[in-house]
Amino acid sequence: MCGIVGYLGKNEKKEILLDGLQELEYRGYDSAGIAVIEGKNLNQFKAIGKLENLREKTKNYQTKGFGISIGHTRWATHGKPTELNAHPHLGDYSYVVHNGIIENYQALKAELQAEGVKFLSQTDTETIVHLFEKENKTSKSVFQAFKNTIERLDGAYATLLITQADTDTIYFAKHGSPMLVGFNGDDVYFASSDTPIIGKATEVYYLEDGEYGYAKEGVFKLFDANGEKTFKKQALTADKVLAQKDGYRFFMEKEIYEQSRVISETMMGRVLDDTIALDELGSDFFEGINSVKICACGTSYHSALTAAYLLERLAKVRCDIEIASEFRYKDPLLTPDTLFITISQSGETADTLEALKMAKRAGLKSLSICNVDNSSIVRESDAAILTRAGIEKGVASTKAFATQTMVLWILALYIGQEKKTISKDVLKTEIDAMLHTPKALVVTDTLHEKLHRLSKRYLHGHGFFFIGRDIFFPLALEGALKLKEISYMHAEGYPAGEMKHGPIALADSELFTIALMPKSMHYDKMKSNVEELSARDATICAISPLPFELADDFIQTKYDSHPMLEFFEMMVVTQLLALEISVRLGNDVDMPRNLAKSVTVE
Ligand code: G6P
Repeated sequence: MCGIVGYLGKNEKKEILLDGLQELEYRGYDSAGIAVIEGKNLNQFKAIGKLENLREKTKNYQTKGFGISIGHTRWATHGKPTELNAHPHLGDYSYVVHNGIIENYQALKAELQAEGVKFLSQTDTETIVHLFEKENKTSKSVFQAFKNTIERLDGAYATLLITQADTDTIYFAKHGSPMLVGFNGDDVYFASSDTPIIGKATEVYYLEDGEYGYAKEGVFKLFDANGEKTFKKQALTADKVLAQKDGYRFFMEKEIYEQSRVISETMMGRVLDDTIALDELGSDFFEGINSVKICACGTSYHSALTAAYLLERLAKVRCDIEIASEFRYKDPLLTPDTLFITISQSGETADTLEALKMAKRAGLKSLSICNVDNSSIVRESDAAILTRAGIEKGVASTKAFATQTMVLWILALYIGQEKKTISKDVLKTEIDAMLHTPKALVVTDTLHEKLHRLSKRYLHGHGFFFIGRDIFFPLALEGALKLKEISYMHAEGYPAGEMKHGPIALADSELFTIALMPKSMHYDKMKSNVEELSARDATICAISPLPFELADDFIQTKYDSHPMLEFFEMMVVTQLLALEISVRLGNDVDMPRNLAKSVTVE
């Protein structure tokens, strides 16, 4: 995800920007740039790849005295990671950096191009700077021009603008993407999160959606739709690691809480009112494709298993799922009418990468679903859809799984829409459910507290079975994987209807069954399966919107109108349960023993 840093003051601006951007590296990026205005002088530098490249380019540059400056790390969304597409974007005399997606940029761009404006990049961001310069021709002040500009933007943005028309002021606006302002005397800082300004600013204000304004030496003005507003600064922590975790105890915990926000980023520009848009795929991408094969490892494999249900049900496309390490050595029969999809958080998993190469050698078209642009798997694929989860630090994957599953749901609808196998009404219902997903992913204090209390009962026993049916079966597999990864206790995911074909032999009071019992999908069948286990004295922890009398422990969920909403809400419950059990056992939640975040060996 893109990162923004801004600074206004007398200190060395280049170092402040570069150090700040370094702190935002964890968000992931593929190019970076800075722009500085001192007096009438305007300087800008951009480089693709790592920040070292930008440091190298700026090594002979030093800033002096008062000035205004903005910097950016870009995670490509519209347009490839090139220098031209890197921020800051230049108009004739102004620079802009932006995080988010301007959904109406094509209409704005067409309007500006019709008036003779030349665009250099493929980005949505560049429209902001040109729109501003157009507005500035007729507005009574630079601020009015900025205000008019942001009023015309749809979508999400955190943006900073500097201009030679007003060389001592930084203009800012926030709507839907994070940005905060730091203060220290007359110095003003902007950033996407607080780590870049820790040790520099002493106080901070976290901007709210819809707020905008400007900063100049000794002046800071904040506005929203109701006009100028007052605001309260708060003291800024001095502890960087704590700040990176945003106050959470573990990265995994932070990432569980982030899911509600990042899933909106995954949907941004893709899930529209009554249609699905995947600009990453050309209009003829599915021509000649009659089936899909998905290959992945670990958690990504579980999102693939979920996709198989969605693709067959919604898109009416035959879908096979393979574990990459198995696929590689089974002499698979591959036909060119099969689309080969790989799913990978890191984009570097050796088995998945090799499976992709095999499919390519067999002449298959390939698509990757990945969280890291420019990773080996993305580079190797014909097309890629980025999951936009931001960097995931906890080894036990959480938000990567959520965003992968969302992308696959989007893809299933997109294929259905393109192949006309899905009716307009069904599409609308699915889109409505999608738009409710961020709510279903919210972690409430009540839920977290409940799982914390419950976890003390699950620190022993001879094993866990997570059971579910349909898409809740892969979710059961994922729930079990999370628990075993960080608790080191044995846990298995199983299709609920299969328990009686063997595993039920294990049932006794020390066998813990985590039952995923959605209301909107096969509730009665699931209930019978759980009753069979309860009759054999297994300890039942039921997760369901419907109260279940035979449960020893019961976690009531809220969203019961659509299976995917139930899926995402129950996913959060299983993640938090695993986390709380692991914490009680004193394990290293973020770095569990024997595991690696990215497995680049076979
Ligand atoms: C490792 C990680 C898992 C991950 C798997 C696949 O085992 O610990 O969290 O699911 O690799 O990784 P990928 O990056 O391809 O999704």
